[in-house]
Amino acid sequence: MPNKQPSLETIAIHLFENPKPFGAVRPPLYDTTTFSFKDIQSLNDAIGSGNTHPFYTRYGSNPGILATEKKLAKLDHADDALLFSAGMAALSALFIAHGKNGILCIGEVYGGTHTLLAQQLTSLGISSHFMQYDQIPELISQSCIKYGLVFFETPANPTLNIIDISTITSWAHQQGMLVAVDNTFASPINQQPIKLGVDLCVQSATKYLGGHSDLTAGVITGNKPVLDIIRPWRTSLGQICSPATAHLLDRSLATLPLRVACHNDNAMAIASWLESHPQVIRVNYPGLPNFPDHAIAKKQMTGFGGMLSFEIKGNGKDTIQFINNLNLFSRAPSLGGVESLVSQPSKTSHRHLTFEEKKKKRIQDNLIRLSIGLENHQDLLDDLELAFNL
Ligand SMILES: Cc1ncc(COP(=O)(O)O)c(C=O)c1O
Repeated sequence: MPNKQPSLETIAIHLFENPKPFGAVRPPLYDTTTFSFKDIQSLNDAIGSGNTHPFYTRYGSNPGILATEKKLAKLDHADDALLFSAGMAALSALFIAHGKNGILCIGEVYGGTHTLLAQQLTSLGISSHFMQYDQIPELISQSCIKYGLVFFETPANPTLNIIDISTITSWAHQQGMLVAVDNTFASPINQQPIKLGVDLCVQSATKYLGGHSDLTAGVITGNKPVLDIIRPWRTSLGQICSPATAHLLDRSLATLPLRVACHNDNAMAIASWLESHPQVIRVNYPGLPNFPDHAIAKKQMTGFGGMLSFEIKGNGKDTIQFINNLNLFSRAPSLGGVESLVSQPSKTSHRHLTFEEKKKKRIQDNLIRLSIGLENHQDLLDDLELAFNL
């Protein structure tokens, strides 16, 4: 390959490092737990060389896993990547490895991440401090706050609030803190946190990277020294994804740029339509010029994603009725797949919040979250219109 970094569309299709025996167009799946050697010295050398020669799959030292990691690293403009068995496995390893000096968590995060930080990790002596999204201006005017790691999601679930990645990162770096961002909602096609200065980028590969609701995996990208602190935790906790999952993920990545472009277009069309609907109070979508964080989104995102939420006129009962009236949207948690999904965050991902907290964050019973899929957008609009009118 020439020296110039190829475009994301090309990286997504080609595995630059993985051998393809017999001229196979697709790389083979090495569905093996271990690798044998011609003599014991070669085995000992392979183990001693770190991950450069395949020897045992739990270490991540399997050609298919290594090649998929290379592709994920390239997509994020990072040095290296670590694959995991789930997004939560990636987040757990990240927090255990880099959270011992305290974690500053900013804004809304996925409910599972909140439980891990607020309850489970505290019992291991890893403490987290939670700061609300509207406290950011106050936060960055201070210079004495010290934690080991700053963590946030942008866009956030389910408010789609946007955090200014460069501003938070340069502030955190001045204080000597590492910065990790959960980029699951955006994917590398819409947002490149590493290019904006963050140290570690985490994604649930179960969502857009996998894209077909048929695999569970997670990934962390970053530079080698920070990833090398996480790697032994993945090995000891046995958090590697299977070779078959890495193979399926690699197949899915080939269409990531195309899929995300279509998610972006469909979500923009639906958000604009909802915004002018008489039964809708408010639409949260970063691509809408009226969205409060639109200017920051425009600055740091190249597309606005397939996720949106909106408040309808009515109470919780009306909301449930509306959701139950939908035919093309499956009532299911998760996001980022080819099919459209609908959920009610106040009763699912954010059920742990008190009534007052939900009110303050506008995550009340009339808030509906949509993961917009790749169906024809007019069919999705017709389905929404029908659900309003039933
Ligand atoms: C933003 C975000 N991060 C992480 C996760 C956890 O991912 P997984 O289900 O692959 O463990 C989720 C799951 O919904 C998520 O929405």
